[in-house]
Amino acid sequence: MPGLKPQLTTRPIPYAEGTSPALKEAEFGVIVDGVADINNITASEFVEIERLLYTHGLVLFPGVKLTPKGQYELTQAFDPLALGEYGHGSVGRPEAKSILHPDLRNIPSNPAVQLIGNGPIDDSEITQGLRIPCVLKHPSHETFHKTALSEEDSKKGITRFYRWHIDASLYAREPPRVTTLYGLKMPTETRQTVRYDDGTGDELAVPLGGTAFVSGRIMFDLLPARLKSLAVRTKVQYAPHPYVWMGSAKSRSTGLGMESDGTEMSRDDLPPWSEDNIKIYPMLWKNPVTGNLHFQVHPSGVESMIIDPLPAGGEATADTLYPSGAHLTDLKEVRDLLYSMQRPAISPQYVYTHSWSPNDLALFHNRGTLHTITGAFQPHEQRAFWQCNIAASDAPVGPNEEDVKTWA
Ligand SMILES: [Fe+2]
Repeated sequence: MPGLKPQLTTRPIPYAEGTSPALKEAEFGVIVDGVADINNITASEFVEIERLLYTHGLVLFPGVKLTPKGQYELTQAFDPLALGEYGHGSVGRPEAKSILHPDLRNIPSNPAVQLIGNGPIDDSEITQGLRIPCVLKHPSHETFHKTALSEEDSKKGITRFYRWHIDASLYAREPPRVTTLYGLKMPTETRQTVRYDDGTGDELAVPLGGTAFVSGRIMFDLLPARLKSLAVRTKVQYAPHPYVWMGSAKSRSTGLGMESDGTEMSRDDLPPWSEDNIKIYPMLWKNPVTGNLHFQVHPSGVESMIIDPLPAGGEATADTLYPSGAHLTDLKEVRDLLYSMQRPAISPQYVYTHSWSPNDLALFHNRGTLHTITGAFQPHEQRAFWQCNIAASDAPVGPNEEDVKTWA
């Protein structure tokens, strides 16, 4: 009943064996039961769900019957001032050149909700007015990574992280606060192994098609002091139309940013762009509820780094990086530095991979986590999800003066 205290109960998400205690300490991920009607969340329920999202980063509702309208309304509730347009808009993937283009189908009744997945989907409850069968294709690392697994390894169930990212156009529009992902159809028995293939020997057992998440807060917490000092002083600049720009480049084998072979599209060949639509964001985004700093960088789209000098009174030590500030524009240097800061947090013990069951709804704090899909699907294997996120009404907020003093 509206106005009464909601009867929501929470429990921790099930961490895989070998998960670092850091996830438990950060209380990353929570399962919520007891929502009366997921399609008509009450005001008091929403207040609680919003707090849970910012506190835990990932909020799961198992076994709920969601409609596209209900999904859209729940997503929009996190940002009432947003215009209700899908996070990438149309500008984020101009023409067909964007690497995002083939993976998404808009649900006609609620275009900010997208059908994603794999295989021929012929259930009209799922396709919601899209032409049947709707043939979907789960993205494969083979088209995005510089190197590919051998056929033999793939047959054995070896796979990779596809692309670690934030859901954001990184150009013209602001990063959505939340993404909602609703699982309708997916294999639930098959297991695969993510191989990092970066010389570390790291591997992670995952369910086929599992969505992997890491906490941006833990990504920051793991940094040594000299990199924390750098992070708190740094902004990253994204390329114009980043998903077109990177379309001709190839990813690292971990899915965490790109190899630097000089194959990015030149600015002259990009669709029309303007300087004022280019995005420059702090490396660290401040959590509006907890005040924690989250390392939130979409590594594939970054073009340069702008580093502030140490604040007044801050004393450089032999360890301090760029104490007088800098603008780093060498793409390889920028990417290698960024990679050294982000890679520790995608190590197997810091990754939570959600093992989907039909009718699971996941909400993730898109300004506090990074995620990637995993898995390699055969053309006939069915996977169907609705996802929704909405370009935000404001830009993310970076560290405040106090944070800079504390960490620089
Ligand atoms: Fe995503």
